[in-house]
Amino acid sequence: MNIVHSLIVGTLPFVPKSLVRIFSSRYVAGETLAEALAVVRGLNREGCMATLDVLGEDVTRLEETEETVDEYVRALDAIAREGLDSNVSVKLTAFGLKIDPERCRRQFGRVLDAAARHNTFVRIDMEDSSVTEETIRIYFETRQRTEKSGVVLQAYLRRSREDAKRVATDEGRGKGNGKGNVRVCKGIYIEPPEIAYQGREEIRDNYAALVDDLLEAGSYVGIATHDEVLVERALATIERLRLPREAYEFQMLLGVAGDLRRRLVAAGHRLRVYVPYGRSWYGYSMRRLKENPAIAGHIVRNLFSRRD
Ligand code: FDA
Repeated sequence: MNIVHSLIVGTLPFVPKSLVRIFSSRYVAGETLAEALAVVRGLNREGCMATLDVLGEDVTRLEETEETVDEYVRALDAIAREGLDSNVSVKLTAFGLKIDPERCRRQFGRVLDAAARHNTFVRIDMEDSSVTEETIRIYFETRQRTEKSGVVLQAYLRRSREDAKRVATDEGRGKGNGKGNVRVCKGIYIEPPEIAYQGREEIRDNYAALVDDLLEAGSYVGIATHDEVLVERALATIERLRLPREAYEFQMLLGVAGDLRRRLVAAGHRLRVYVPYGRSWYGYSMRRLKENPAIAGHIVRNLFSRRD
């Protein structure tokens, strides 16, 4: 953490909520479903797909999971009603994974029921390493039920290429194509060197290797990055394998790298934007900043430019 980042993070608790709201408005669609749907409509008009994320990760009381489940059901109903091109992304800790994994499965099951009613895809986000294995296990269980589900692998984790092999052979032997559906990202949490690469280049190399492994194995891959080097490397693999557009998609966060996003869409690639919303925007923004102070630098820079 450099000194500027430490200073920013150290002063965060004293920053008025209204100011944090301004910082986060670039990355968070709003507090309400209506605001999130308006953002999705705009993205769809631009030729982008979306994935809605109801903010509310890592609950401390099981009652809090009810509200999140209900909101996901409302979001899934609204996506279908309005015919929007969007799926949903969920964090299993928001359904109580760290408190009661069985209850979490039941709560997540209610979201899967709503998604099944509308034939909508559900992506299980990946969180910190304390829940990696259980998250992958729940993904395999979900694949027994529906192929319209996917998971995330993090390039900074040393284990991820092994996990990619498991996912690409659909270890759960579910209803999918037997090849899995994976979003590949670098990873946002702070993890120790014993289990996670720390250097920028080694994380990049592992990212590119993961994307190659999965695409070569025939998995559907969500290439989630704003790193132009990695986008170029993925494009080279897509060309080498002569993959059709339906075999992969690029994914980016709301408010980040708008130029790159527009270039990829203009070139005819499928691209999905991650759209977080909800009343927990404050906790989400603060956690993101504390977990990875490098984001503070982006935020300060972005204060002076519009949302793309
Ligand atoms: P990198 O951090 O090197 O950024 C490359 C460039 O992009 C930067 O130089 C900067 O210009 C720009 N940039 C990146 N982040 C920015 C920001 N916040 N604001 C402004 N500019 C920014 N992680 C995880 O652990 N589990 C998950 O499930 C997911 N899910 C997920 C979904 C999607 C769609 C995306 C795009 C990302 C995630 N992530 C995630 C987060 C991911 O792990 C990673 O932290 C960020 O995407 C940043 O990594 P990049 O690959 O963009 O590279």
